[in-house]
Amino acid sequence: MDHFSYIGGQLHCEATPMSAIADSVGTPCYVYSRATILHHYDRLADAFSSLNPLICYSIKSCSNLAIIKLLKDRGAGMDLVSGGELFRAMQAGVDPANCVYAGVGKTDVEIRQSLQAGVGWFNVESEAEFENIAEIARELNIPCKVALRINPDVDPKTHRYTTTGKKESKFGVDIDRARAFFRTYGHDDLCKLTGIHLHLGSPIYTAEPYVSAITKVLGLIDQLAADAANPVTIDMLDLGGGFGADYETDQSPAASDYAGEIVPLLKARVEQGLQIVIEPGRSIMANAGVLLVRVLYMKTSGDKTFAICDGGMNTLIRPCHYDAFHFIWPTKVESAHIPPSRAKQMDLEGLIPMDVVGPICETGDFFGIDRPLPPLQRGDLLTVFSAGAYGMVMASRYNSMPLPAEVLIDDQTVHVIRRRETYDDLVAHERHGVGTPAEVEHAHGVNT
Ligand code: LLP
Repeated sequence: MDHFSYIGGQLHCEATPMSAIADSVGTPCYVYSRATILHHYDRLADAFSSLNPLICYSIKSCSNLAIIKLLKDRGAGMDLVSGGELFRAMQAGVDPANCVYAGVGKTDVEIRQSLQAGVGWFNVESEAEFENIAEIARELNIPCKVALRINPDVDPKTHRYTTTGKKESKFGVDIDRARAFFRTYGHDDLCKLTGIHLHLGSPIYTAEPYVSAITKVLGLIDQLAADAANPVTIDMLDLGGGFGADYETDQSPAASDYAGEIVPLLKARVEQGLQIVIEPGRSIMANAGVLLVRVLYMKTSGDKTFAICDGGMNTLIRPCHYDAFHFIWPTKVESAHIPPSRAKQMDLEGLIPMDVVGPICETGDFFGIDRPLPPLQRGDLLTVFSAGAYGMVMASRYNSMPLPAEVLIDDQTVHVIRRRETYDDLVAHERHGVGTPAEVEHAHGVNT
């Protein structure tokens, strides 16, 4: 469910017409609905309420400070994967104790910053990383809590680029090696290794992979507790993210469908003191945001029709990187062309198949191929739906295109939460000649 709907043939975000946003902020522009974000957060919180989980919003999915702050104010902690995300969380006023920090390549600087900030849990991905965190913790004499990211070898049946819980992935430690890991590191005085972290992939369109991973991990938790020589009590289980979003209408299970299968596995454990964490990103943000672009030119080539837009793979890379489907439709349509759903095939009269492409000098620069769309002309606005997650955060300045603006809509109010970049922004970090020694040092991160 989201708050993007056609009223009188005009697409609105909440009570604001998309055309008004384009008029005031320009295009390309990411548009987020405040009410949808909160609704998506609340439905997860409700669905999993009997586990009383810490919901750590996955900042990587959409990292604008205003979004982080909105979710923090609703009660969320944060899932971090870099010092930059920690910085964002702290800028937004998040308590670091409510953050979990994952990532296969944490640098010493990032580890130090996280220890000093008091991050809630380090989700550790290898033996070498544990040893490094332990050494830095000793050097600073700061205690921390650690969860081992386990690779349960479960197939989440999603794109191979976003599959993380299979044996051959770079993430986590194989479940067969986990007992040895706990035996070696499970009794460190400063780095308390009492948590387990999972993240299977993204998006995951059924509850089944969670069920099989959790079942395996509960077995491990029991084995660890029963280890006569070295018993370890696991007090935190982080299930990761991955809950789906509707790129096509009703593509994903409801939060309550996932929870319906997961909660019964964990309820008794929670009653015995196990803390549950979940790390949703996409399920909160994807359908809460759209990308608004303008058609610059219509063009035919051979049998093909192209709608050439002012944003492309530079603003939203998902279609060309993952072959992802995003529903695309004009923001203003005749009543006969109001889309009945967001489906790949549209059974409406008078549609024309066309490729919706961007301005970038690559053939792979497209939002959609052979999409049946109402007739378009130069100047029309198009909405690329379900773009709130992994949209703006993966945008680039390729072809020296400044990054787009982001707005957060609250009913009739348009909050510009990131201004459109300028050409000055494009070159702000560059120098014509070689920098001064101080600048060179800074560029090498000596002062960061
Ligand atoms: N936790 C960890 C450790 C993760 O790596 C991720 C996502 C999440 C949580 C959040 O997953 P979500 O709830 O958003 O599915 N760029 C790709 C998605 C990459 C996901 C990376 N990790 C895309 O556009 O589909």
